[in-house]
Amino acid sequence: MTSIITILNGPNLNLLGTREPETYGTGTLDDLETLCAETAEGLGLAIDFRQSNTEGELISWVHEARTRSAGIIINPAGYSHTSVALMDALLAVDIPVMEVHLSNIHKRESFRHHSYVSRAAQGVICGLGFAGYRLALIALSDILEEDL
Ligand code: DQA
Repeated sequence: MTSIITILNGPNLNLLGTREPETYGTGTLDDLETLCAETAEGLGLAIDFRQSNTEGELISWVHEARTRSAGIIINPAGYSHTSVALMDALLAVDIPVMEVHLSNIHKRESFRHHSYVSRAAQGVICGLGFAGYRLALIALSDILEEDL
């Protein structure tokens, strides 16, 4: 059976393409989903790609992924820097978690330098735009193959 990778996108990422394009680029969330789907297909994986502006919904989706997914890629957006609850949900899952940020959060305002979610992540990719999601999928594929 094809392994599913849950890809979660946090608040305001629905506005990709028009939101601060100098920071986040001009590609849309749909473009990002297409890139992820194509990359996953090449790796023999399937994706469940979602976006929410609500902390509780993201947490519920992490709970859902516990039993149905082989790994999680998450761009927690603003919740990276604020959400102990999202970190706790991710710490409760037994599957590998990769954290992705489009921008290089370490080059930006100091409040973005700390991510609670990083404590629950096996790896963190930032500053590479959409390519970060592609690389996270490749890394998860490698991790899952090592588990075989
Ligand atoms: C972001 C970085 C966060 O600091 C910010 O709040 C976002 C997007 C990124 O992808 O670069 O919304 O996670």
